Amino acid sequence: MKETIIIDCDPGQDDAINLLLALSSPGELDVLGITTVAGNVPLDLTERNARMMCDIAGRTDVPVFAGCAKPLLRELITAENVHGKTGVDGVEVFTPTGRPQDRHAVDFIIDALRSADDASITLVPTGPLTNIAAAIQKDPSILAGIRRIVLMGGAMREGGNTSPSAEFNILVDPHAAEIVFDCGRPITAMGLDVTHQVLSSRERIARIKAVGNRAAEATAGMLEFFSRHDSTKYGADGAPLHDPCTIAFLLQPELFEGKLCNIAIETRSPLTLGHTAVDFWGVSGRSANATWIYRVNADGFYELLTERLARLK
Ligand code: RIB
Ligand code: CA
Repeated sequence: MKETIIIDCDPGQDDAINLLLALSSPGELDVLGITTVAGNVPLDLTERNARMMCDIAGRTDVPVFAGCAKPLLRELITAENVHGKTGVDGVEVFTPTGRPQDRHAVDFIIDALRSADDASITLVPTGPLTNIAAAIQKDPSILAGIRRIVLMGGAMREGGNTSPSAEFNILVDPHAAEIVFDCGRPITAMGLDVTHQVLSSRERIARIKAVGNRAAEATAGMLEFFSRHDSTKYGADGAPLHDPCTIAFLLQPELFEGKLCNIAIETRSPLTLGHTAVDFWGVSGRSANATWIYRVNADGFYELLTERLARLK
């Protein structure tokens, strides 16, 4: 049975590769739409970049919607230092053939969930959670249509990547993250603890490049650019390929290990704003609201990604 999904993202090379992974798997995933949010780069670029990936994947049948241009309460922070000015440095930017949708992403999410059967649509957010939170605030009844939320965000043992205690997606919009983590629907959280286990090593990039089609060449080019920042920062061979952990989990959950626990979000402290307090040992007395993923078969992850890219033209 196919899983119906909406991917909410801020491409960003890793979001872009996640889109290619999802769009290469029509047998398992029915991508209802792609919604974009400001994050790695401003909204006009994340929306354009998402449409570029639909072109590269030969999937201009999938609609792309622009969403929120800034967080619910905070000022926007972006990450051009990691992703480059275009957000997808490493691939030649072009004007996508698919045209932008007029409907706001938040309204698309609401319309899709309002008309859906109970627990029938999976949300896959890989950027700041502004669009998802705004949709829930605007119409809480949409929660019934959500089957599960598989998101990239947060950190526990790994520590923060944007502040000492916070991961980028959560720090950009901690108030949105709090709304999502408190929404009561099943959540699977792919934080830095697991994404730092899937490093885009030179060997893995070479294997992807050897596939030789347009999607694989775009992926290899984006990874070569995307890897430079974190390889230097962490002194490793390759960068953590964060966002594709979400779609990989939908396709092959057996690659991952997680634990049901409570995850709470710091929304007040200037020092630890955006921190994900993951109660891994159940000491808080707070009820579990998410499955925290803490282990992945990294070789299996890259085999999956490489094999799926090879399915595209
Ligand atoms: O911290 C990593 C996350 O922030 C990834 O989703 C990356 O694309 C950026 O959005
Ligand atoms: Ca992202």
